[in-house]
Amino acid sequence: MFDQVADTTPVAVQAEVTLRTNFFAARDVLTHFLSQIIFNSTGRVVNVSSFVSACTLNKCSPVLQQRFRSDDITEDELVGLMQRFVDKAKKGEHKQDGWPEMPYGVSKLGLTTLSMILARCLSKERPHDGILLNACCPGWVRTDMAGQKAAKSPDEGAVTPAYLALLPPETTEPHGKFVSDKKVQSW
Ligand SMILES: NC(=O)c1ccc[n+]([C@@H]2O[C@H](COP(=O)([O-])OP(=O)(O)OC[C@H]3O[C@@H](n4cnc5c(N)ncnc54)[C@H](OP(=O)(O)O)[C@@H]3O)[C@@H](O)[C@H]2O)c1
Repeated sequence: MFDQVADTTPVAVQAEVTLRTNFFAARDVLTHFLSQIIFNSTGRVVNVSSFVSACTLNKCSPVLQQRFRSDDITEDELVGLMQRFVDKAKKGEHKQDGWPEMPYGVSKLGLTTLSMILARCLSKERPHDGILLNACCPGWVRTDMAGQKAAKSPDEGAVTPAYLALLPPETTEPHGKFVSDKKVQSW
């Protein structure tokens, strides 16, 4: 994890490493476990994203924002956009292409959008399954990543992810949402 303020690692490297870990590898894990969750026709999927995903979305070009907010963006299109950010960052062209210089934020923007896409697919293809899939932000939490000045204890940071993971049977929402402090956030 690169320090978002102080790290001097070139953005090209940060983009490749951060997207590989936070987006592409997270997608691999999701793909693998989702097939097993679907097999059981029940379950809760909680992707730990970040409020930074929404801030990053607002800093993208209008064209990119429209795609990330659209109801018809596909997983393939999203993967292509995430790869495009990495490729453009390697050439130093990401800003001209409409991206903010925020590799961590773009990786989480991808994870939040992926959660929305997968939830839509589940609703369409398996409307009678009880699977609920969401992305969330734990808040600013005192961990290795955020440091000791952060506002929440680790226990407090676990509240929203645990709430989403333990939504009772027969619950129908939230699903395909970005949730923070146990509340659905605008996207
Ligand atoms: N803390 C916050 O304020 C905050 C805010 C918003 C979102 N989040 C999100 O919450 C999640 C947990 O973060 P945290 O605050 O608990 O961070 P953390 O204390 O830095 O922990 C990160 C964890 O990810 C593991 N990790 C890092 N790179 C990896 C890689 N390439 N492959 C496999 N594992 C890797 C680390 O493993 P090692 O210990 O082995 O290095 C560590 O266990 C993250 O997704 C973060 O983006 C945190």
